[in-house]
Amino acid sequence: MNGQPKPHILFTREEVEATVNRLAAEVRRDYQGKHPLLIGILKGSFVFMADLIRLLDFPLEVEFITLSSYGRGRSTPGGIKVVKGLRAEVKGRDVLIIEDIVDTGLTISFLLDYLGKKKPASLRLCALTDKPSRRQVPVTIDYLGFTVPNKFIVGYGIDWDERFRYLPDICFVEVED
Ligand code: PRP
Repeated sequence: MNGQPKPHILFTREEVEATVNRLAAEVRRDYQGKHPLLIGILKGSFVFMADLIRLLDFPLEVEFITLSSYGRGRSTPGGIKVVKGLRAEVKGRDVLIIEDIVDTGLTISFLLDYLGKKKPASLRLCALTDKPSRRQVPVTIDYLGFTVPNKFIVGYGIDWDERFRYLPDICFVEVED
């Protein structure tokens, strides 16, 4: 594509801030005193994770995991692999996955299965956005920020073709699929 598509605001930075505050309150209510292990999926979760943990004023641990991505066209969870894994021990921990967007659900389904095999004490999902119209496998989201329409979502860490992660608002771009 020539040039750069124009991002349109879906949720303003103020709405994002209010929602991250709400999610932090929910996480604090459920995890205070449990020394949870928060695992962010790179790259998209890094902005959300950074804001969320600064609202959690109790002991917790932060980890990141990188999973391979085969692009939007992929259709089977079998193709997903761990590219960069965890250093922390998962066994016996209260694990909370931090994700920027659940789309087909293939990425998170893979990770829930992968982490579940490591025998955590508990395993839950906190997702900033959910695009249920694209779902291929069922996913339970324990802490959800926004439900988004079937558009290319960008901003607040989320990219389109590695662009727009820096936008402070959650936006969408209109591009050819
Ligand atoms: C995006 C997003 C999720 C995943 C969701 O990551 O961050 O991890 O896709 O899609 P799914 O539900 O269809 O599996 P992407 O692979 O684009 O990598 P990125 O986080 O580095 O941008």
